[in-house]
Amino acid sequence: MKLDQYTCYSDFRKAARRKLPKFVMDFIDGGAGDEKTLQGNTAGFKNIQLIPRMGSQTRPGLLNTDILGLSYAAPYGVASLGLCGLVHPKAEMMLAKSAAKYNIPYIVSSASNSFLDVLVKESGVSPWFQLYLSKIKSQTDVLISHAQKHQCPVLVVTVDAPVPGIRRRDRYNGLRIPYQLKASNVIDSVTHPAWLFRHLVSGKLTFPLYQNLIEDQPNLSFSELMSIQTGGELNWAVIDEIRDKWQGKLILKGVMSVSDAHTAKKMGVDAIIISNHGGRQLDSVPAPITLLNQVFSKEFDREFLMLDSGLRSGEDIIKTISCGACFTFLGRPFLYALAAYGERGLAQLQEMIFEQLSVNMRLLGASAIDALNDEYVF
Ligand SMILES: Cc1cc2nc3c(=O)[nH]c(=O)nc-3n(C[C@H](O)[C@H](O)[C@H](O)COP(=O)(O)O)c2cc1C
Repeated sequence: MKLDQYTCYSDFRKAARRKLPKFVMDFIDGGAGDEKTLQGNTAGFKNIQLIPRMGSQTRPGLLNTDILGLSYAAPYGVASLGLCGLVHPKAEMMLAKSAAKYNIPYIVSSASNSFLDVLVKESGVSPWFQLYLSKIKSQTDVLISHAQKHQCPVLVVTVDAPVPGIRRRDRYNGLRIPYQLKASNVIDSVTHPAWLFRHLVSGKLTFPLYQNLIEDQPNLSFSELMSIQTGGELNWAVIDEIRDKWQGKLILKGVMSVSDAHTAKKMGVDAIIISNHGGRQLDSVPAPITLLNQVFSKEFDREFLMLDSGLRSGEDIIKTISCGACFTFLGRPFLYALAAYGERGLAQLQEMIFEQLSVNMRLLGASAIDALNDEYVF
């Protein structure tokens, strides 16, 4: 099948599966534990149906939306994706450029493999910045200042990852970063020569945003590095301190409890992303879309609620907005598209989502994204 015939996310996923070594595909695809949460996320969307209404509109529904004082072409963005250098050495650059071209936000992960200044220069847009709290407090401060220096408009603090989840596929595959060609993965790698060639040419994966720490402690293994960079103290006093330090908009990502959301709101947090990290952290947690529909939407204004985990299409974005969120993020679909065809794959995915949004808005009889509400869902 040709790329311009790709019409759903699973077309990209199938292509990614062919092009990536199994241990990389498993790293993207996999979830924590028995992957109950992972499966529940997509099932959550299947359990919500759309109700078309007799629209008075005769033109395509408007997709653009304003959030946090920023204007975007559609209500979705690229979720923070650490270590995507494993998929493609220029992954972050391609994601940043694609997001800029389609005028949607890109959240760069603090576990990114690219320099922030290069991303800003090449894409012409400062990304949103995702922060993990480091065990070494001064490291967290360094990252906040770095994001501030590069004029990132939004700081996204991830609160659901005090330790990495137990991802069994990565353990079975013996995933180690930096990637090393070893007996256990040599066949897997050499049977994907395009992927292998790119990685041999580009050299070892680096973590520019953790450079200070790597220079101070050059013998750290990757897991030690991540345990320092994600294992910082996480409580409301820390969030309060960040709120004081950070001059832009502040979001907490990974909030699943209504009472936490109320506390965050009282503290001046601008929005939350209801998220279970795409099922990669705690297993046996509800799907964010179900929580939004049944609980959060009854307690908070739309402006405060964003959501990720399990979205795979324009239809899922419309369901999320109709259920009461103002914005959505997608993670894996971008990585599948990137793995499948690089920049061209990303462009095709974005076109696909925009088309799904436009056609489904028209079929629903909805005139604009901001006009979507719970009367459109069942
Ligand atoms: C490969 C991969 C890496 C991720 N890295 C990060 C990260 O560095 N920081 C973070 O806050 N979330 C990270 N996430 C979680 C995403 O930001 C997002 O919550 C999740 O992918 C949404 O679910 P979806 O993949 O079903 O769309 C990662 C997800 C994946 C798939």
